[in-house]
Amino acid sequence: MTHPLLDLLPAGSAVDPDGTLRIGGCRVDDLAREFGTPAIIVDETALRARAREYRTELEARWPHARVVFASKAFPATAVQRVMAEEGLGLDVAGGGEILSALRAGVDPALIVLHGNAKSTEELRLAVDAGVGLVVVDNSDDVDRLEEIVPAGRRQDVLVRVVPEVASSTHPHVQTGQVGSKFGLTAPAAKALIARISRSPRLRMRGVHAHVGSQVMDPSELAAAVAPLAALGTFDVYDLGGGLGARYTYDEHPASVADYLDTLLAAARAHLPSTAELIIEPGRSMVNGAALTLYTVTTVKRDARAFVAVDGGMGDNLEVALFQQRYEAALATRLGEEDTEDVVVVGRHCESGDVLIDPLRLPAARVGDLLVVPATGAYTHTMANNYNGARRPPVVFVRGGEARAVIRRETWDDLFLRDL
Ligand SMILES: Cc1ncc(COP(=O)(O)O)c(C=O)c1O
Repeated sequence: MTHPLLDLLPAGSAVDPDGTLRIGGCRVDDLAREFGTPAIIVDETALRARAREYRTELEARWPHARVVFASKAFPATAVQRVMAEEGLGLDVAGGGEILSALRAGVDPALIVLHGNAKSTEELRLAVDAGVGLVVVDNSDDVDRLEEIVPAGRRQDVLVRVVPEVASSTHPHVQTGQVGSKFGLTAPAAKALIARISRSPRLRMRGVHAHVGSQVMDPSELAAAVAPLAALGTFDVYDLGGGLGARYTYDEHPASVADYLDTLLAAARAHLPSTAELIIEPGRSMVNGAALTLYTVTTVKRDARAFVAVDGGMGDNLEVALFQQRYEAALATRLGEEDTEDVVVVGRHCESGDVLIDPLRLPAARVGDLLVVPATGAYTHTMANNYNGARRPPVVFVRGGEARAVIRRETWDDLFLRDL
């Protein structure tokens, strides 16, 4: 049996003859029984395959290059461990992500620290851990590092630059445009580079730019290369992440190969061939490897047909943050015809807590399982306890075996910080 949703799910996903979805060889009704819902299910094979694809495609195109996974997209220790095992470095934003990378066994030399408002505590953590590159966003970062880095040592740094590229993604995930809070415009970047070059505690290694996220046109990402090159000749050019991921039937983001062809054509045109290149994919690395499984708790056929599930903006803020569109289906009724236009809503006390509007489904019933594909990026990491929600588990599936790598929160967990 087949279903259009398979197009949005990891390769190897299948529909059993009774209309039930299988992912990583596991039936979703079995997963729901064992781990409950909502649950984020990750196909480990797909996760590893994507990491390998990024790595081999980049290495094939540039002699001295590395992929660092932007861990903010899915900062679960188990995910970071997979990335380390696949030979990737990690981009971290903040102290918590440094600690999670270290727990996952990532070589500190392969960690790149970002942040537009790094605290002294976070910078100290990075320096003490031997983080390979600190991406300096402002002169306060330099002041703090000069205090923290011990005499006789030098911390390698990059300077984050505003490439002045306004990509055609949602304004809330643009980062490289004039007026962005991230990085410095060329004149300020040049002044800071000159200061770092004179610093006894810092080593000026290169420059960084990140245009934005969910960018569907790779030429917009490649447009950041020339502004970086204009700042001078360096050892390292970090070209950021940002490639769009596929969420819906009608979206067709560039493949990794096509993205890198475009990006590295710009690199060949503008950068020294001996330089080290870094890319920092997040969303496009992990999004397609995961899905979220919900249970339908209420079906209300009134002004609209409302299908309410047991999750929502507590486990997926992407819709509220930038109106991300998703597809979904009833995970044990994939053989049935879609007969009803519904709006899939969450359980939270906000009118904006809508997961998908509209969606066509078979007539939904209480207790049905709803599967939402393409939820690997920026879901788990932004999950929250709004309305006392317990954050969902993360479950890895592979070869018919399932294991929780993060458990569901308990009611008691909600009060752990009470004094
Ligand atoms: C500095 C930096 N690098 C990489 C990324 C990853 O972007 P994406 O998840 O869109 O690939 C981000 C995301 O915000 C970022 O801020």
